[in-house]
Amino acid sequence: MSEPTIKVKRLAYVRVGAPDLEKAEEFLHEFGLRVAERAGNAVYLRGSDPDPHCYVLTEGAPGVQAIAFEAEAASDLDKVARIEGASAIEKLDEPAGGQVVRLRDPMGMQVEIVHGQAALEPAAAPPPHDFNMDGRRTREGGLPSVRPGPSHVRRIGHLVLESAEPVSVYRWYHEHLGLRKADEIHLPNGATQMLFASLDRGAEFVDHHVVGFQYALDEGSRVQHIAFEVANFDDLMAGHAYLGARRRKNVWGVGRHRYGGQIFDYWASPQGVIHEHWTDTDLVNEDHVPTDCNIVDMRDYWGPPPSLAFAVARWNFTALRNLVGLLGARLRAGR
Ligand SMILES: [Fe+2]
Repeated sequence: MSEPTIKVKRLAYVRVGAPDLEKAEEFLHEFGLRVAERAGNAVYLRGSDPDPHCYVLTEGAPGVQAIAFEAEAASDLDKVARIEGASAIEKLDEPAGGQVVRLRDPMGMQVEIVHGQAALEPAAAPPPHDFNMDGRRTREGGLPSVRPGPSHVRRIGHLVLESAEPVSVYRWYHEHLGLRKADEIHLPNGATQMLFASLDRGAEFVDHHVVGFQYALDEGSRVQHIAFEVANFDDLMAGHAYLGARRRKNVWGVGRHRYGGQIFDYWASPQGVIHEHWTDTDLVNEDHVPTDCNIVDMRDYWGPPPSLAFAVARWNFTALRNLVGLLGARLRAGR
């Protein structure tokens, strides 16, 4: 198999549009992101890790407008600039600086490959949390380090791209950015329901998935959700209580995923973009052997089933037919 054009280092940021910036920003503060800087009509938000901003909020049409990955080396930008349809290498005129090459993936999504952005100083985060569990007493005489209020987002971790052709979208990311299949879930007809892909960092352990390529029940194309790591389990639950008290829309969770292993909690923004809090993900490296399973056999470790608002981004006849087909297959399988 031929080598990919480059192997990206990490998911860097998303650009998200909102018609009402103030309303959108209020949600993001409650979700646990903090403002790194404001410039022009954009708000640059960050987590507590020293990475540059991971979220660019701009006034405009609602939804995720672009996704960005960090390249390992400046020379990688020369390589991606040669991909068909790529922009030239351009200066990023934004708070973290750096350079960018802009691409379009097969879904039509803008993909930015960046290098040379300036890191930030780490921001305050809750102290490590010790548990007296599993027969181990690691917190003797101390109190749990739980703080009521918003979760503390550390960083952006992954996103899910959904389309009618998830495998061909994955192939593009594999061939050009080096993403590597981690595990795959099939539909009852054998087609791909979800293909999880990780970064390829060789022996270094990375999150189980940085992008999930999902079959969209309505056969539309979009970023289905964006996901952020929070400090720890208590921090996630504190955020769950906080967002719930503010009547934000929970669309799935709390639960623990079978694939990826993370404890998850999904919230819809006022613009309808699904934002995930997660903690305690599985880590994989080059030795990971991908597995396949059928969706009728797939169950998360624990937690409620997804809501309709999570499963179907847009209702049309295709979505309804696919949903009825899936539920029917589960019933016939007695699960
Ligand atoms: Fe996720």
